[in-house]
Amino acid sequence: MTATPLSRRAVLGGVGAAGLTVGVAGGALGRQTLTDGPDDPAPAGALGRAAVPFFGTRQAGIVEPGQARVQLAAFDLAPGAGRDGLRQLLRRWSATAARLARGETAESAENQVALDAGPCGLTFTFGFGASLFDKAGLTDRRPAALTPLPAFPEDAIDPARSEGDLWVQIGADDALVVFHAFRVLQRQAAGTASLRWQMAGFSRTPGATERPMTPRNLMGQIDGTGNPKPADAGFGEKVFAGGTDWMRGGTYAVVRRIRMLLDNWENLPTDRQERVIGRRKSDGGPLSGGGEHTPVDLTATGPDGGLLIPADAHVRVAAPAANGGATMLRRGFSYSDGVTADGSPDAGLLFVAYQADPLRGFVPVQRKLARGDGLSRFLRHESSGLYAVPPGAPEGGYVGQQLLEG
Ligand code: HEM
Repeated sequence: MTATPLSRRAVLGGVGAAGLTVGVAGGALGRQTLTDGPDDPAPAGALGRAAVPFFGTRQAGIVEPGQARVQLAAFDLAPGAGRDGLRQLLRRWSATAARLARGETAESAENQVALDAGPCGLTFTFGFGASLFDKAGLTDRRPAALTPLPAFPEDAIDPARSEGDLWVQIGADDALVVFHAFRVLQRQAAGTASLRWQMAGFSRTPGATERPMTPRNLMGQIDGTGNPKPADAGFGEKVFAGGTDWMRGGTYAVVRRIRMLLDNWENLPTDRQERVIGRRKSDGGPLSGGGEHTPVDLTATGPDGGLLIPADAHVRVAAPAANGGATMLRRGFSYSDGVTADGSPDAGLLFVAYQADPLRGFVPVQRKLARGDGLSRFLRHESSGLYAVPPGAPEGGYVGQQLLEG
């Protein structure tokens, strides 16, 4: 699924009369200038028009590049909501997600926050936590792969900001569009599910760099280079679940809020920072030589015979080759939420990784990272979640239909 531009008619026609009062002008970036009047007929920007269909064999927001903004949230099913309540909620949420992804307004709980904007690449990705299944009378349909993650050394997990029955990742290239979508879903859940936690994240804004580039994280590293690519052999089997049950074509999302100890990190000279990761900060090229996309050579040595990629470098310890082929599709976002009690930045990475089976993806890799990764000295894992992300919904259907009606 890739973003396709909508015609202006499609965007504005769906927004409704109120949406016509503000012209989105200013060229490709959709920026309004002081001279743009309310009746300015200039077309909406390409960024605003980008639309990713909600319906499809796979849910959106997994293989598409991460957008500039994200909202992650988990909800808990209300006592007594049960299977029927869950079914109705997923139906309502799916219909709403499909409308909003097309740039239309919601049929209920609409608050007009995003009226002037196109969908801006809006995607919704829904997942189910292990705790959902008993509450919805679906105990026997809980997949084995949804076994809660083990505790890892040095974890500092806050249960109040972890797990949850229902999870959603809402991404778009505009903060108002994301907030709007989130509030609509939250209000539509009233009485059936209540918010357990929410986290807002961000990444590069499209157009901020001269050419499309792998984004940087808050440590300043180019992050995402080593990800498996949809064109790679075996990509589908590594990222999406097989089998014959309702999860076929779905995936598992591991979500970790990882605070970066930025005061310590930023005091480290750049060459030492680079040895912690195993890649250059300037362009992401591996310390074994070459550019960002040159394969990492874990055996390369320098004139002194020492390894160019240190023994505890993050890319060495995390590499699939060092973990029996363990692979995951990382699709993280940065977050910045002020300061912690000790005055250090409450900022870091909302790590989101998709894989066919977390017991063969995230779990073995994180076990190793927690012990032997030079980067872990600069990190705190503060919240954790694992969610079964079902396959996409067919046109007019809803996410989770195979589970609830299969
Ligand atoms: C705040 C925490 C983290 C930061 C800042 C970070 C940063 C990075 C960077 C800069 C790279 C090199 C560029 C790239 O290939 O994307 C990388 C690679 C990688 N990271 Fe992380 N990472 C973090 C957490 C994790 C966690 C928790 C895992 C999994 C348990 C993980 C797994 C990987 C993998 C599999 C690679 C690719 C290795 C390769 O094949 O080259 N990372 N990470």
